[in-house]
Amino acid sequence: MNGLDASKIYDHAIEVLKENDLGSYTVPTRGLYPFQWNWDSCLTALGQSHYDEARAWTEIETLFAHQWPDGMVPHIVFHVWNDGYFPGPDVWQTGRPTPTSGITQPPVAAFAVRRLFERARDKELAARHARALLPKIDAWHSWFYANRDPHGEGLVAILHPWESGRDNSIDWDEAFERVPSEGIDPYTRRDTQHADPAHRPTKAQYDRYLWLVQHFRALGWDNSRLHDASPFQVIDPGFNAILIRGCADLASLAEALDEPVIAQANRARSEMGRAALEGLWSERHGQYLCLDRTTGALIDSPSIGGILPVFGGVPRDRARAIARSIERQAAGVRFLVPSHDPADPRFEAKRYWRGPAWLVMNYMIADGLRSVGEADVAAHIVRSSLELIAQSGFAEYYDPLTGEACGGGRFTWTAAMVIEFLRQAESQS
Ligand code: DGY
Repeated sequence: MNGLDASKIYDHAIEVLKENDLGSYTVPTRGLYPFQWNWDSCLTALGQSHYDEARAWTEIETLFAHQWPDGMVPHIVFHVWNDGYFPGPDVWQTGRPTPTSGITQPPVAAFAVRRLFERARDKELAARHARALLPKIDAWHSWFYANRDPHGEGLVAILHPWESGRDNSIDWDEAFERVPSEGIDPYTRRDTQHADPAHRPTKAQYDRYLWLVQHFRALGWDNSRLHDASPFQVIDPGFNAILIRGCADLASLAEALDEPVIAQANRARSEMGRAALEGLWSERHGQYLCLDRTTGALIDSPSIGGILPVFGGVPRDRARAIARSIERQAAGVRFLVPSHDPADPRFEAKRYWRGPAWLVMNYMIADGLRSVGEADVAAHIVRSSLELIAQSGFAEYYDPLTGEACGGGRFTWTAAMVIEFLRQAESQS
C-alpha cells in the first residue's frame, strides 16, 4: 500500500470512530449495535488515544462506571433506550441502575490500559486515570477466578457463547446440544434486519442463547450460583489467554504505580493460568483447543480461539507451532486470520465466527507473534488486514477467501485496529 492510501485510510478510520462516538462511549456501529459493548470499547480506546488521549480514558471509565458490586463488568451497557437491538434490557432484567446485560466479555481492559499508560504523551493524566482504574480491573479479575473457576483449576469458564465474543463459533456446537430451547418467550430478532442473515448465527443458536439468558435471569443473576447451574460451561483458550495477558499487564502496571498487593495477586494469576493452559494443547492441530468443563473432554474444533493464546504469553515452542499453523492456513485463504481452520469441513467463509477474519483478532495475534520473534507471520497478518480495508472498507468482519465485507458496516473497532496498525508501522519505519 502506498503512502497516499495509508494516510487516506487513517483519516477514514478516524472518521468512523468519530461518527460512532456518542460523547462518553462509542457504539460498535450504528443500527446493529446501538449501545456500549465491553471489549469493543476497550480496544476502541487504543485507536482514540492517537488523536485524543483524554477521550480514550473516558471510553474505559464509562464502562467501569457500570461494573457490578460483585466485580463483574457486563458485556453491554444500555445507556440510552433503543428498540433496534434484541435482546434489550427488558429481556435481561438485571435490575442495575443503568440497565446492563448479565454476562461478561473477554477482559481486554488491563491490556488496553497498560498500553494507553505506557505510550501516553500526557504522563500525568495517564497515571491519574490508570491509578483509578487499577483496583476496578483487579476486582474484575478476582471476580473471574471466584465465580468462573470455583474449583481452583486455574482456568475460567464462559457460561454463554456471547461471553467469548465469538458467538457462533464451531467450538460451541457440541456443548450447545445440551442446552434446551423449549420454553423460551417468543421473540423477534433485530440483527437480521441490519445484516445479511447468511452472515449471522442461526435461529437454533439464537433460541439457545435466549434459553441461557432466561435460565440465568430466573436465578436472579446471582453469580455465585450461575456457574454450577449452567448446562454450558466451556473453557475457551482464547478467552483465558486474554485474561492471563490482562493479569500480567495489570501486574506490570501496578508495579509501575507502586501498588504491590495488586501486582502480586495478578502476577500469581497469570502464572497459574499459563501453567493450566498447557492442558489444552493439541499436538495434532498445532494449537490449543476448548475444554468442555461439564464432560471434561477437549473439543475437537480448531478455531481461532486456540490460536489466540500467543497473545497470552505461551511457551516459545507453542508460539512457534501456532505460527506454523497460521502459515498452513494461509495456503487455504487469501486473507489472514480465518476464525476457523479452512481445512475443517465445518468452516463457513461468511458466517460470523465460523470462518471470517476479524481485525481485532489479527491485532492481538500479531502482537503475540511479534513478541516471540515471529515477525514475518505477524507482518503477513498486518498486510492482510490493511489489504482487507483497502478492498472492502471498515466492515465488521471479512470473508477470508474473497475479502468480501460481512456483517455490519463502518465498524468502530475495525477502524481502531487500523489506526493501531498504521501507527505501529510508522513507529517501526
Ligand atoms: C450480538 O447481539 O450479536 C452480540 O454479539 C451479543 O453480544
